[in-house]
Amino acid sequence: MPTLSKALIAAGVLAVLTFVTGIALRRAGTPFGVGPTTVHKLIAVASVMSLALAFRHLARAGASTGLAVALAMTAVAAFLALIASGALLTRPELELPGIVARVHRTAPYIAYAMSAATLGLMAATAS
Ligand code: HEM
Repeated sequence: MPTLSKALIAAGVLAVLTFVTGIALRRAGTPFGVGPTTVHKLIAVASVMSLALAFRHLARAGASTGLAVALAMTAVAAFLALIASGALLTRPELELPGIVARVHRTAPYIAYAMSAATLGLMAATAS
């Protein structure tokens, strides 16, 4: 199977697993267990890496356009917000404003929608 297909399948599977482990964390409630939090964090990081791999593969094939780069930047900003808000949420000693949890619940949809749009646009440009 070509590298791009593998990276895209991995990205899809890891995105689903990120949602499943994140929703499980929320349902289990605070204080968040160290084990489940670590599993969610590692899967989330692996998800970002697989998306970056697919992006790099398509960019090397000369498929990047201005619009694709703009969409990718939005996805990157959303992922950074997720990593920052996720790190804050796992600090029980902090009294966080509700916006932090709201950011962490909303940004995944922006991050993955923008990633899918970026990769879809690049794949269409490449073919
Ligand atoms: C690519 C980065 C990430 C994505 C896409 C992501 C996604 C998600 C999703 C979809 C949820 C469930 C939200 C819901 O129930 O509506 C969640 C919850 C959670 N995530 Fe992440 N996450 C990411 C990174 C992280 C990191 C780095 C940490 C910790 C260091 C973290 C800690 C948490 C915690 C503590 C919850 C439960 C929040 C709550 O109860 O409201 N996440 N995450």
